[in-house]
Amino acid sequence: WKARMTIDPTYRVADLDPRIYGSFIEHLGRAVYGGIYDPGHPAADEDGFRQDVIDLVKELNVPIVRYPGGNFVSGYRWEDGVGPVDERPVQLDLAWRSLEPNRVGLNEFARWAKKADSQVMMAVNLGTRGIEDAKHLVEYCNHPGGSYWSDLRRRHGVDKPHGIRVWCLGNEMDGPWQIGHKTADEYGRIAQEAAKVMKWVDPSIELVACGSSHAKMPTFPDWERIVLEHAYDEIDYLSLHTYYGNRDGDLANFLACSLDMDAFIRTVVATCDFVRAKKRSRKTIYLSFDEWNVWFHSNEADKQVEPWQVGPPLLEDVYTMEDALVAGCMLITLLKHADRVRIACLAQLVNVIAPIMTESGGPSWRQTIFYPFQHASNLARGTVMHAPVESPKYDSKDFTDVPYLEAVPVWNQEAGELVLLAVNRGERPLPLEVDVRGFPGARAEEHLVLAHPDVKAVNTKERPNEVVPAKRAVEPVDGGRLAVLLPALSWNVIRLS
Ligand code: AHR
Repeated sequence: WKARMTIDPTYRVADLDPRIYGSFIEHLGRAVYGGIYDPGHPAADEDGFRQDVIDLVKELNVPIVRYPGGNFVSGYRWEDGVGPVDERPVQLDLAWRSLEPNRVGLNEFARWAKKADSQVMMAVNLGTRGIEDAKHLVEYCNHPGGSYWSDLRRRHGVDKPHGIRVWCLGNEMDGPWQIGHKTADEYGRIAQEAAKVMKWVDPSIELVACGSSHAKMPTFPDWERIVLEHAYDEIDYLSLHTYYGNRDGDLANFLACSLDMDAFIRTVVATCDFVRAKKRSRKTIYLSFDEWNVWFHSNEADKQVEPWQVGPPLLEDVYTMEDALVAGCMLITLLKHADRVRIACLAQLVNVIAPIMTESGGPSWRQTIFYPFQHASNLARGTVMHAPVESPKYDSKDFTDVPYLEAVPVWNQEAGELVLLAVNRGERPLPLEVDVRGFPGARAEEHLVLAHPDVKAVNTKERPNEVVPAKRAVEPVDGGRLAVLLPALSWNVIRLS
C-alpha cells in the first residue's frame, strides 16, 4: 500500500497556457443579478459590482471568463445589452425560463472583468442568429472606430476597443435542448462561414467551435469529425464540456469519473488529428474544455423554481468535500493534457454551480471546490511534467484500474518551484515516495491538504469554514527522495524549491 512517482526535468508535457484556469459567467440564475452585480449591496462599487465577489475571484486568479453563455447565448440579442440602461428591453430568456432585464451587457461585463484582472472570452449566438450579427459584434467590440458599430460603441462611452481575443462560435449546438439546435453539417457550415467573416473583421481573434456537449451524446465523435471537416482551416479550438455527479451515492465510482474525462480528451485529440491527416493539413487544432465541473445536487430543486423571474436561484449546487476531490482530479486531468488543452473554464464562477456563493444583499463565501482551483491556479504555473506513477488500483462500477493516486507535477522555472498536485482517492492514508533526484538540492517547503472526516461536509453561509485547507509538516528530501503521507480522501499540494 504505497505509491511512487518520479519527476525528472527532461520529461515535459508542455508549458501550460494560463487560460487553462479560466471560468465562466452566464446570464443564468444568480450569477450576474445577485451575484457579481448587486447595486443595493453594501459592498457594491460605483458600477453596482460586489467588491467582496471581485476579491474572491481575484483569489482564484482567473485569467479568462467565458460570457454570456451557455445555453443563454443561443437566444441572446447582444444589442439589447448596450446603450442607455433605462432604454434596454426586458426579454424572456427561453433557455432558463427567466427574465433578462439587460441591466448588465457586454460593456458592463468587460468593466467587471477588468476589475477582476481577467479577460473576456465572448460567445456569439449561432442559435437564433448568424454571420451578420456575429460580424457586427466583433466590429462593435474590437474595431477602433470610423464604422457604424465601432462608433456606436464609442457613443456608448467606450472609446478604446475591448480587444476581445477569444470567441466561441455558439454553444452546445449538438444538443436538442439548444435554441437553434443543428446537425453537424448545418453547424459546421455556419461555424465555418461565421469564423471566416469574424476573422475578416479582426484577423487577430481566436475561434472556438462547438464540440459535443458531453461524451455520451449519440453524435459523439462524428459531430467533431464533421464540424472539423467543414471548419478546420478557419477555427483554432474545439470545445469540450462535461459535468459529473454522484447520483447513486457510489463514492469510489464518482471519484473515478476523471478517467472518463481523460478518455474524452484523448478521443477528441484523435479526431482532430484524424481530420488533420485527411486534409493533409499542417495546422494543429487545440482544445478548449470550456465547461467542466460537478453538477447534480440542484437538479431536483431547479424543477420547482418559478419561471420568468430575474435572477432565480438556479443550479445552486452546494458542494461537498467529495466534490472538491472530483474537481481536483478533473483539474489534474486537464493539466496532464496541457499540450492540447490550452483553454478550460470551470463552469461556473458565482452562485451557479460555482466555487463562490453569495446571498443577495448578504455575505459571500467559498465552496469546497474553491480550494483545489485556487491552489492550482496560483501555484501550478509553468511547465507540466510527465511523471510516471505507480499506485495501488481499484475497480468500480464503470471503471477498471483506477489509481488511488491522481497526480501531476508542474515546474515553475521562473519561481524555482516544483509543485505537485495530488488526490488520494482511497479511504485510508496513502504513503507516497517521490523521486526528485533530477532536481539536485530540491527542498520540501510546504504540504497543503484539503480533507474532512466527513466527505459530505459542505461550506455554508452559517459555516463558511467547515472545509478549509490546512498545512501539514513536510519531511526533508532525503537522498533525492521525498516521502509524504496523503491523508484519506484528500487533495494535496506539495511545494518544493
Ligand atoms: O453551465 C450550465 C449549462 O450547461 C450551460 O448553459 C450549457 O452550455 C451547459 O449545458
